[in-house]
Amino acid sequence: MSPPTLSGPKHVAIIMDGNGRWARAQGLRRNLGHERGGHQVRDILRAAFHLGIRQLTLYAFSTENWKRPKPEVAFLMNLLVRFLRSETEPLNKDNVRFLTLGDLARFPQRVQDEIARSKEVLRHNTGIVLCLALNYGARREIVEAAKSFTRRCLQDPERVDRLDEEGFNEYLETAGMPELDMLIRTAGEYRVSNFLLWQLSYAELYFESVFWPDFTPEHLRAAVENFRERDRRYGGLNPIRKKA
Ligand code: IPE
Ligand code: IPE
Ligand code: MG
Repeated sequence: MSPPTLSGPKHVAIIMDGNGRWARAQGLRRNLGHERGGHQVRDILRAAFHLGIRQLTLYAFSTENWKRPKPEVAFLMNLLVRFLRSETEPLNKDNVRFLTLGDLARFPQRVQDEIARSKEVLRHNTGIVLCLALNYGARREIVEAAKSFTRRCLQDPERVDRLDEEGFNEYLETAGMPELDMLIRTAGEYRVSNFLLWQLSYAELYFESVFWPDFTPEHLRAAVENFRERDRRYGGLNPIRKKA
């Protein structure tokens, strides 16, 4: 199956927020919200593929989420392992490639192993890219990029004057990924919570009020249609209106 050729965002990122509130709204424990949220990923990824999206980047665990109660963090780790165990084969059948952003070293070894195994299985696939942001924080990413660049400069000081924005991109964890076109956040919060700060420069922002477990392919379709209506001027004038 080859991807559809509709015009629209190629790289979409989602802040999957509202699992806890979804659960509480029905008198359930927060973890059940995470469980339901995990189930959504597969359907949304399939819908993304059919909408012509080439990369779906999902914020699954932030550098700040370690502040949550230990049992909730442990549940999220287990959920990730269970997700990878049950979904890697179906993802492989769908030709999905799997990437991550974030510092995986802080995760328990068995979680790291499971991530590495899934990446290996899905490594040669050429279809949609599923990128999970795990222990990801944009400020950390930028600081780490600055550190890597500085280390290179210690060997070759002339690099300092040659550095430009494109060059700096290469030091970020997103090096080699397509430019971010759109950020969606669910659950009615209007903030980016330390996600992809550099990459968001000219991304289109889209806020959806439903909680992540209630976010359906239909909501994604509405977001993509909304994107197609927008004029991306990049600071210039006389935009050429895009056709859907
Ligand atoms: C998002 O849902 C999932 C993670 C951050 C891991 P939340 O757990 O933040 O849900 P709310 O925002 O408390 O409702
Ligand atoms: C952002 O949601 C992180 C993820 C969805 C993984 P949070 O719920 O952690 O963000 P805040 O606390 O509302 O800013
Ligand atoms: Mg939240």
